[in-house]
Amino acid sequence: MNNHLYQHRGPLAVITLDHPPVNSLGHALRQRIVTALAAAQADSTVCAIVLTGNAKAFCAGADVSEFGTPLQRAEPVLATVLSQVENCKKPVVAAIAGVALGGGLELALACHARVALESAKLGLPEILLGLIPGSGGTQRLPRLVGVDTALAMMMGGQAQTARQLVDSGLLDDVVSQDVVDAACARAISLTDELAVNKTPLSRARDYQLNAAATQARITLERENLTPRQRLQPAYTALLDALEAATLPLIDGLQRERELFLQLQASTQSKALRHQFFAEREATKLPTNLQAAPRPVQTVAIIGAGTMGAGIAICALNAGLNVILLEQDDATLQRGQQRVTEHYQNRVAAGKMKAAVAAAAEAHLSPTTDWAQLSRADLVIEAVFEDLAVKQEVFKKIDAHARASAVLATNTSYLDVDAIANVTARPQDVLGLHFFSPANVMKLLEVVRGSQSSADVLATGMTLGKTLKKLPVLTGNAFGFIGNRIYNAYRKQCELMLEDGAWPEDVDSALQAFGFAMGPFAVADLSGLDIAWRMRKAQAATRDPRERYVAILDQLCENGRLGRKAGAGYYTYVDGKQVKVTDAAVRDIITNASKQRAITRREIAASNIQRRALLTMVNEAALLLSEGVASRASDIDVVLVQGYGFPRWEGGPVFWARQQERAALDSDLQTLAREAGHGFVMADLSVLLESP
Ligand code: NAI
Repeated sequence: MNNHLYQHRGPLAVITLDHPPVNSLGHALRQRIVTALAAAQADSTVCAIVLTGNAKAFCAGADVSEFGTPLQRAEPVLATVLSQVENCKKPVVAAIAGVALGGGLELALACHARVALESAKLGLPEILLGLIPGSGGTQRLPRLVGVDTALAMMMGGQAQTARQLVDSGLLDDVVSQDVVDAACARAISLTDELAVNKTPLSRARDYQLNAAATQARITLERENLTPRQRLQPAYTALLDALEAATLPLIDGLQRERELFLQLQASTQSKALRHQFFAEREATKLPTNLQAAPRPVQTVAIIGAGTMGAGIAICALNAGLNVILLEQDDATLQRGQQRVTEHYQNRVAAGKMKAAVAAAAEAHLSPTTDWAQLSRADLVIEAVFEDLAVKQEVFKKIDAHARASAVLATNTSYLDVDAIANVTARPQDVLGLHFFSPANVMKLLEVVRGSQSSADVLATGMTLGKTLKKLPVLTGNAFGFIGNRIYNAYRKQCELMLEDGAWPEDVDSALQAFGFAMGPFAVADLSGLDIAWRMRKAQAATRDPRERYVAILDQLCENGRLGRKAGAGYYTYVDGKQVKVTDAAVRDIITNASKQRAITRREIAASNIQRRALLTMVNEAALLLSEGVASRASDIDVVLVQGYGFPRWEGGPVFWARQQERAALDSDLQTLAREAGHGFVMADLSVLLESP
């Protein structure tokens, strides 16, 4: 940290926050601000103070790694810092470039004026960690910007640029350059006003909200909370805190603090913080695999179907050159059309400027000529999920791609080695398993084949980051991490149908737990025929002793292929799901129970949830012990990012670690008994006791 408390700029003191990389408000920085502020106040040559950071960050907020440690509670706590800033007799102006997030924005809110670079990003993202702003954000922000804008900023947790906030009342000046100069000018003018006009300093606490209007607005917001928001106490707490913003600041701050502390101690907030760190960790390769990535500027994508087109869009958005290859002109045109329509829709919706869309699309080279592959640094195959087809395609890729190219398959289930081994360079091959829609979903499984070299894996991880994805390393086993767990989970849910539950019982219980959708609604949405085809392919090798649930096959045989057919597990009228399954589906399910001599019995929602979660936990433990997942926390990232597992429950591993061990073990034994032959029971120690 800088030894000087502040720099003199004429009659001003410029205090520069200096805690790389993002000025998180750890104890040392808080202490330094208080000391510098006191010194500047005492310095008779200083008439006003400018508080600033660096180009990357004014301040990114609290130091999350201090949470729960004594340092977090050591004076000066953030509230003390802010009250000293607010109470300073000399004007204090925040000069904001880069990010001002969470505690960082709260610090700016306590200043007497705020000047920001137009690109600066400001926000209160606490809700994303199951928290509310804990140092005055819920009290000072609405006083400055009104309840509507405050709600929008805090309920969504997304940062906005100073340009977007220019008329919000939050910022006194928004400038295109030299933010510290502009803040100094503002500080001088405040000093003059103070001296000449005796204009008191503007303090957020002195603004009054209209109590009745605020109350009415918050009541409305309370009524409009979504079911998923209602499962997360932080949303209600945020509204409670905002309600208190009509009280005198000191009372409002106290209410905010109480609510913040309750949330901070909650399992939900711990789960969200666990995800936050797990996501950061997931993108790092284990030390034994670290290597320099190969440079990638041109990507070739083979197959311009659902996935190929989506992958092309994210590569174009990242500024890469994209060669999109199809087997014939007509299919190529359809694929290209998907990309074009995507950009047209973005522009029409006002989400992208036409010039930006045109610039991205200009990097697209559609082709049917395999010789074009020689231009690519990385090739991603996204053709039909059929081993023979993929092997043929990889032989061609091998013949045309240049020697240093990285070769990837987007297969969902197939053996990456069986694909790599048809080439003369299996060390250059890996899996890059994108999720659908590929331009939206953040998860990317980076699959390590038995021969994939470290720099090839590093290239996959780096490409993931370039595409703004969350890359997670996985071993090459059926379904990798995500589909393997999801398959086990879905199978368990099918067993519950035979045991006595209806699809809507299972779906609603899992939605009540927080899943975005239940497994049967998901199956209908994806189409049952994909699973049907796979089941038929596996039929010959399936162990007849296995407890196999044939309900899905029978639905398909009756033409119920899912939402696209107007009927699957559910019936669809005008594209809308009828909530309760119909008699035909119930007949199929009841017959399945009869055939297995099962007396159907109701299964309580809590049991449905526990069986589904235990199955995931069991499979997670197997994956970890087999080395398919290299870290337990990676599994949580995959399930939350790719499969709608509620983020605020932390993922299956985090969930399991909150349960009583003896109960987990005994319930798992029951589960194994009921699932019958073929269910492999894991030793949960590996999962519960690994870091
Ligand atoms: P799709 O059927 O929409 O597209 C496949 C495309 O590959 C078609 O346009 C086809 O013309 C083209 N193609 C087939 N053989 C070719 C060849 N020899 N040369 C050039 N092009 C060829 O399939 P989709 O859904 O895009 O899936 C592609 C791959 O992505 C599969 O391996 C699938 O398992 C995987 N995947 C699919 C996901 C999904 O939700 N659809 C999710 C994650 C992975």
